[in-house]
Amino acid sequence: MVYTQKKVYDHNLHFSLDEIPPRVEPRKVLMASPEYFDIIDIKNPHMEKGLGNLNKELAITQWENVRNEYLRLAEKGIIDSVNIISGVPGCEDMVFAANQTFPWRDENGEKLVILSKMRHCSRQKEVPYFEEFFREEGYKINKLVKTSLFEGMGDLIPHYGKMLLYGGYGFRTQKSAYDEIAQLLNVPIIALELVNENFYHLDTCFLPLDEETVLICAEAFSTEGLKTIKKMFREVIAIPVHEAALNFSLNAHIINDQVTGKKVALMQKGGVITFHHLVKKGFEVIELDTSEFIKSGGSVFCMKMMVY
Ligand code: ARG
Repeated sequence: MVYTQKKVYDHNLHFSLDEIPPRVEPRKVLMASPEYFDIIDIKNPHMEKGLGNLNKELAITQWENVRNEYLRLAEKGIIDSVNIISGVPGCEDMVFAANQTFPWRDENGEKLVILSKMRHCSRQKEVPYFEEFFREEGYKINKLVKTSLFEGMGDLIPHYGKMLLYGGYGFRTQKSAYDEIAQLLNVPIIALELVNENFYHLDTCFLPLDEETVLICAEAFSTEGLKTIKKMFREVIAIPVHEAALNFSLNAHIINDQVTGKKVALMQKGGVITFHHLVKKGFEVIELDTSEFIKSGGSVFCMKMMVY
């Protein structure tokens, strides 16, 4: 094997995708219920507009609509199940279930999870509730010892179908976290610097569709990061900054199911350019309204975690 495992790469990529082993995609959805969702401070620029302006009742309805879509997909066998963790008083952002952990299945099929080290104190309180879920599900729990900032699947996104990860850093996660995580998971991680605070998590600007294609917002990345992305994907489709930032169109959830072969995308409604590309790539696009969650800086992708 030519490529070096357990290592973080930025521009010195000396391996190609063909050398990377395949990966089975997770099929269970995990969400956290929204009864204590609120916007009480400014953790990212989107929250400036959201503060004092949340329609809580509407938020709950929108969350239920997202959950109901997943229940329908489970009925159709496109995902396995929908699992819900109860929201907790004082954890106003807990509903963003993509951030507290990073679940993984290693090359031997063993389930493990890395617990996040959230940047904000109020969000650190969310992590033990997710830890409990994964413990009950039989995951090996991993705590980071050399890292102080890591925000789970918000910043660490797998290459579709491959044992390869992309790690965003600059706002929420520290770059060196990926050294520790690459060791723990025994996979290469390609580090991508985020340079625009509207795109403070990688999941706001980087949306892989399949092994060869990714949708991105170019303005979110450094010049070096963009070059790296172009090396890894045959097709890199740029979505305009206004659509990605205002509509959260790249915070969509792509289900490219390896079992049924079905391609479904769940996204915030109104992202017309993103919508068009997804349809062209053969996705059935389900448009949802997550306006109340966008006020807090998140949409469909970060309202769930995919677990094994
Ligand atoms: N208000 C939350 C925060 O700033 C939103 C998190 C959204 N999550 C995401 N993966 N983009 O922490």
